Amino acid sequence: MKRTFAAFFGLAGLVLAAPAGAQSAAAGLPLYEYNCQSCHGTPPRLRDGAGSGAGNAAAIRTAITRNKGGMGYLSVLTDSELSSIAAYLANPAAATAVSSADRVLNWAESQFAAVLQGTQPSGTTGPYTYRCYAAAGLCIGIDSANVYLYELNNPGKGIYAIGTLSAYLGQAQSNGF
Ligand code: HEC
Repeated sequence: MKRTFAAFFGLAGLVLAAPAGAQSAAAGLPLYEYNCQSCHGTPPRLRDGAGSGAGNAAAIRTAITRNKGGMGYLSVLTDSELSSIAAYLANPAAATAVSSADRVLNWAESQFAAVLQGTQPSGTTGPYTYRCYAAAGLCIGIDSANVYLYELNNPGKGIYAIGTLSAYLGQAQSNGF
Protein backbone atom coordinates (compact mmCIF):
# COMPACT_ATOMS: atom_id res chain seq x y z
CA MET A 1 0.00 0.00 0.00
CA LYS A 2 2.85 2.41 0.75
CA ARG A 3 3.67 2.77 -2.92
CA THR A 4 0.11 3.57 -3.81
CA PHE A 5 -0.09 6.25 -1.14
CA ALA A 6 3.16 7.69 -2.41
CA ALA A 7 1.68 7.81 -5.89
CA PHE A 8 -1.34 9.62 -4.51
CA PHE A 9 0.83 12.17 -2.71
CA GLY A 10 3.14 12.52 -5.65
CA LEU A 11 0.31 13.55 -7.92
CA ALA A 12 -1.15 16.00 -5.44
CA GLY A 13 0.89 18.92 -6.73
CA LEU A 14 0.42 18.31 -10.42
CA VAL A 15 -2.03 20.08 -12.65
CA LEU A 16 -3.26 17.28 -14.86
CA ALA A 17 -4.45 17.62 -18.42
CA ALA A 18 -8.14 16.93 -18.89
CA PRO A 19 -8.55 13.28 -19.90
CA ALA A 20 -10.99 12.62 -22.72
CA GLY A 21 -14.26 11.32 -21.38
CA ALA A 22 -14.24 13.12 -18.05
CA GLN A 23 -17.35 15.16 -18.66
CA SER A 24 -19.99 16.08 -16.20
CA ALA A 25 -23.10 18.12 -15.78
CA ALA A 26 -21.18 20.41 -13.41
CA ALA A 27 -18.67 21.31 -16.11
CA GLY A 28 -21.46 21.82 -18.63
CA LEU A 29 -23.38 24.36 -16.59
CA PRO A 30 -21.03 27.35 -17.12
CA LEU A 31 -20.43 26.33 -20.75
CA TYR A 32 -24.16 26.28 -21.44
CA GLU A 33 -24.75 29.58 -19.66
CA TYR A 34 -22.02 31.29 -21.65
CA ASN A 35 -22.63 29.80 -25.11
CA CYS A 36 -26.25 28.75 -25.36
CA GLN A 37 -28.57 30.21 -22.76
CA SER A 38 -29.18 33.56 -24.46
CA CYS A 39 -30.93 31.77 -27.34
CA HIS A 40 -32.24 28.57 -25.74
CA GLY A 41 -33.21 29.69 -22.23
CA THR A 42 -32.80 28.00 -18.88
CA PRO A 43 -33.28 24.24 -18.47
CA PRO A 44 -35.53 22.39 -18.10
CA ARG A 45 -37.54 24.76 -20.35
CA LEU A 46 -35.58 25.00 -23.56
CA ARG A 47 -36.48 26.91 -26.71
CA ASP A 48 -35.90 26.05 -30.38
CA GLY A 49 -35.32 22.33 -30.00
CA ALA A 50 -32.21 22.49 -27.83
CA GLY A 51 -33.72 19.68 -25.75
CA SER A 52 -32.64 17.27 -28.46
CA GLY A 53 -29.08 17.96 -27.30
CA ALA A 54 -29.77 16.47 -23.86
CA GLY A 55 -27.36 13.57 -23.47
CA ASN A 56 -26.60 13.86 -27.17
CA ALA A 57 -23.45 15.82 -28.01
CA ALA A 58 -23.62 14.62 -31.62
CA ALA A 59 -26.97 16.38 -32.10
CA ILE A 60 -25.43 19.62 -30.87
CA ARG A 61 -22.43 19.18 -33.17
CA THR A 62 -24.74 18.58 -36.13
CA ALA A 63 -26.76 21.72 -35.32
CA ILE A 64 -23.50 23.71 -35.19
CA THR A 65 -22.14 22.20 -38.40
CA ARG A 66 -25.41 22.98 -40.21
CA ASN A 67 -25.40 26.50 -38.77
CA LYS A 68 -28.92 26.00 -37.41
CA GLY A 69 -30.25 29.30 -36.09
CA GLY A 70 -26.83 30.88 -36.75
CA MET A 71 -25.04 28.49 -34.37
CA GLY A 72 -22.13 27.92 -36.76
CA TYR A 73 -19.75 30.24 -34.91
CA LEU A 74 -19.85 27.76 -31.99
CA SER A 75 -17.68 25.35 -33.99
CA VAL A 76 -14.82 26.41 -31.69
CA LEU A 77 -16.35 24.29 -28.92
CA THR A 78 -14.53 20.97 -28.47
CA ASP A 79 -16.16 17.53 -28.40
CA SER A 80 -15.36 17.36 -24.69
CA GLU A 81 -17.14 20.68 -24.08
CA LEU A 82 -20.16 19.58 -26.09
CA SER A 83 -20.29 16.35 -24.08
CA SER A 84 -20.33 18.36 -20.87
CA ILE A 85 -23.11 20.58 -22.21
CA ALA A 86 -25.08 17.49 -23.28
CA ALA A 87 -24.62 15.99 -19.79
CA TYR A 88 -25.83 19.21 -18.22
CA LEU A 89 -28.93 19.37 -20.45
CA ALA A 90 -29.72 15.74 -19.57
CA ASN A 91 -29.55 16.41 -15.85
CA PRO A 92 -29.47 20.13 -14.98
CA ALA A 93 -30.27 19.47 -11.30
CA ALA A 94 -27.08 17.41 -10.89
CA ALA A 95 -24.94 20.39 -11.85
CA THR A 96 -26.02 22.50 -8.93
CA ALA A 97 -26.34 19.68 -6.39
CA VAL A 98 -22.70 18.58 -6.36
CA SER A 99 -20.73 20.06 -3.45
CA SER A 100 -17.07 21.02 -3.74
CA ALA A 101 -16.12 18.05 -1.55
CA ASP A 102 -18.05 15.61 -3.73
CA ARG A 103 -16.48 17.06 -6.88
CA VAL A 104 -13.02 16.40 -5.50
CA LEU A 105 -14.02 12.90 -4.35
CA ASN A 106 -15.64 12.08 -7.71
CA TRP A 107 -12.51 13.30 -9.47
CA ALA A 108 -10.23 11.32 -7.14
CA GLU A 109 -12.22 8.14 -7.80
CA SER A 110 -11.87 8.67 -11.52
CA GLN A 111 -8.21 9.73 -11.40
CA PHE A 112 -7.09 7.00 -9.01
CA ALA A 113 -9.58 4.36 -10.08
CA ALA A 114 -7.12 1.51 -9.50
CA VAL A 115 -6.81 2.43 -5.81
CA LEU A 116 -10.14 4.01 -4.94
CA GLN A 117 -12.35 1.24 -6.17
CA GLY A 118 -16.11 1.35 -6.24
CA THR A 119 -18.20 4.49 -6.19
CA GLN A 120 -18.75 5.26 -2.54
CA PRO A 121 -21.51 7.32 -0.96
CA SER A 122 -20.25 10.31 1.01
CA GLY A 123 -20.72 10.43 4.77
CA THR A 124 -20.26 13.33 7.10
CA THR A 125 -18.69 13.47 10.55
CA GLY A 126 -17.81 16.69 12.35
CA PRO A 127 -16.49 19.12 9.76
CA TYR A 128 -15.62 16.37 7.27
CA THR A 129 -17.31 15.01 4.19
CA TYR A 130 -15.62 11.65 3.68
CA ARG A 131 -15.56 8.42 1.73
CA CYS A 132 -13.79 5.22 2.79
CA TYR A 133 -12.27 2.57 0.54
CA ALA A 134 -11.96 -0.78 2.26
CA ALA A 135 -9.72 -2.41 -0.37
CA ALA A 136 -7.31 0.53 -0.34
CA GLY A 137 -7.54 0.77 3.46
CA LEU A 138 -8.09 4.47 3.45
CA CYS A 139 -10.58 7.24 3.90
CA ILE A 140 -10.47 10.63 2.22
CA GLY A 141 -11.99 13.45 4.25
CA ILE A 142 -12.57 17.04 3.22
CA ASP A 143 -13.48 20.04 5.36
CA SER A 144 -13.94 23.65 4.24
CA ALA A 145 -10.17 24.16 3.88
CA ASN A 146 -8.24 20.92 3.33
CA VAL A 147 -8.22 17.37 1.98
CA TYR A 148 -7.15 14.67 4.47
CA LEU A 149 -6.26 11.01 4.52
CA TYR A 150 -6.93 8.44 7.20
CA GLU A 151 -5.32 5.00 6.92
CA LEU A 152 -7.67 2.35 8.24
CA ASN A 153 -4.82 -0.03 9.08
CA ASN A 154 -2.71 2.67 10.70
CA PRO A 155 -5.10 4.55 12.99
CA GLY A 156 -2.23 5.77 15.18
CA LYS A 157 -1.18 8.05 12.36
CA GLY A 158 -4.42 9.97 12.73
CA ILE A 159 -5.99 12.19 10.11
CA TYR A 160 -3.47 14.15 8.12
CA ALA A 161 -3.80 16.83 5.46
CA ILE A 162 -2.54 16.19 1.92
CA GLY A 163 -3.38 19.58 0.43
CA THR A 164 -5.85 22.40 0.28
CA LEU A 165 -9.40 21.97 -0.93
CA SER A 166 -8.95 24.84 -3.39
CA ALA A 167 -5.93 23.15 -5.02
CA TYR A 168 -7.73 19.84 -5.41
CA LEU A 169 -10.92 21.54 -6.54
CA GLY A 170 -8.93 23.36 -9.21
CA GLN A 171 -7.64 20.04 -10.52
CA ALA A 172 -11.10 18.46 -10.33
CA GLN A 173 -12.68 21.34 -12.24
CA SER A 174 -9.97 21.44 -14.90
CA ASN A 175 -10.68 17.74 -15.42
CA GLY A 176 -14.39 18.39 -15.90
CA PHE A 177 -15.70 17.52 -12.41
C1 HEC B 1 -27.60 32.62 -31.68
C2 HEC B 1 -28.61 31.84 -31.02
C3 HEC B 1 -28.21 30.42 -30.67
C4 HEC B 1 -27.17 30.01 -29.90
C5 HEC B 1 -26.14 30.87 -29.20
C6 HEC B 1 -27.27 28.58 -29.81
N1 HEC B 1 -28.34 28.14 -30.52
FE1 HEC B 1 -28.94 26.21 -30.72
N2 HEC B 1 -30.38 26.79 -32.01
C7 HEC B 1 -30.75 28.07 -32.26
C8 HEC B 1 -31.94 28.09 -33.09
C9 HEC B 1 -32.70 29.34 -33.56
C10 HEC B 1 -32.26 26.73 -33.35
C11 HEC B 1 -33.41 26.19 -34.17
C12 HEC B 1 -32.97 26.13 -35.60
C13 HEC B 1 -33.94 25.41 -36.48
O1 HEC B 1 -34.87 24.80 -36.00
O2 HEC B 1 -33.72 25.50 -37.66
C14 HEC B 1 -31.27 25.95 -32.64
C15 HEC B 1 -31.26 24.57 -32.62
C16 HEC B 1 -30.53 23.81 -31.73
C17 HEC B 1 -30.65 22.41 -31.55
C18 HEC B 1 -31.62 21.49 -32.30
C19 HEC B 1 -31.08 21.13 -33.65
C20 HEC B 1 -32.08 20.29 -34.43
O3 HEC B 1 -31.66 19.78 -35.44
O4 HEC B 1 -33.23 20.19 -34.03
C21 HEC B 1 -29.81 22.03 -30.57
C22 HEC B 1 -29.59 20.66 -30.01
C23 HEC B 1 -29.14 23.23 -30.12
N3 HEC B 1 -29.58 24.31 -30.86
C24 HEC B 1 -28.23 23.29 -29.11
C25 HEC B 1 -27.48 24.41 -28.78
C26 HEC B 1 -26.42 24.44 -27.83
C27 HEC B 1 -26.05 23.26 -26.93
C28 HEC B 1 -25.89 25.68 -27.83
C29 HEC B 1 -24.69 26.16 -27.08
C30 HEC B 1 -23.47 25.42 -27.30
C31 HEC B 1 -26.65 26.45 -28.80
N4 HEC B 1 -27.58 25.65 -29.35
C32 HEC B 1 -26.40 27.79 -29.07
C33 HEC B 1 -30.10 29.21 -31.83
C34 HEC B 1 -28.96 29.23 -31.06
